[in-house]
Amino acid sequence: MAHLFDSLVVRDIKFANRVFVSPMCEYSSTDGYANDWHLVHLGSRAVGGAGLVLTEATAVLPEGRISPQDLGTWSDDHIEPLARIVRFIHEQGSVAGMQLAHAGRKASTYRPWEGQGRVPEAEGGWKNVVAPSAVAFADHYPMPRALSSDGIQEIIAAFAEAARRACEAGFRVD
Ligand SMILES: Cc1cc2nc3c(=O)[nH]c(=O)nc-3n(C[C@H](O)[C@H](O)[C@H](O)COP(=O)(O)O)c2cc1C
Repeated sequence: MAHLFDSLVVRDIKFANRVFVSPMCEYSSTDGYANDWHLVHLGSRAVGGAGLVLTEATAVLPEGRISPQDLGTWSDDHIEPLARIVRFIHEQGSVAGMQLAHAGRKASTYRPWEGQGRVPEAEGGWKNVVAPSAVAFADHYPMPRALSSDGIQEIIAAFAEAARRACEAGFRVD
């Protein structure tokens, strides 16, 4: 028998079933904030009965966004709009999860329907694209700056802070 619709317990979390919604970039934020688009996109999956609904890749730093329109959680101001969505998902009997992310050398690029490769600063792109090495992902992508050890530690700390914000927003998986 298939177990897709059986409940599942992982540590202290009970999922009503094993239908887990993958993270899906929506490229629909302004300054990283969750908005009505995210409420409907994620909330409707919960209404549909999925056991777990994950946010799209959510940037832990502004320069870690893939595109200027990515969802983010680099400040405490981002928490409440996310918490609103979490409350709705949990009211439906689903579990809310967040994918924390840093785009590295793929950052500051166009959302898919607007073009490919590097977004200029005049259109909301940024200069401080970082990566393990100063090697561009492709010719039309930004040339990243190689991270120092301190820079790596700063990103690790940003992931920790973002995880704290995810918990404060009520996410149960991140
Ligand atoms: C519109 C769209 C956006 C996606 N965005 C993300 C993302 O933000 N993070 C991620 O890890 N994967 C992302 N993916 C990949 C999916 O999460 C998933 O891994 C992929 O669709 C393969 O899943 P499947 O093997 O169940 O089809 C995206 C996929 C789609 C179709």
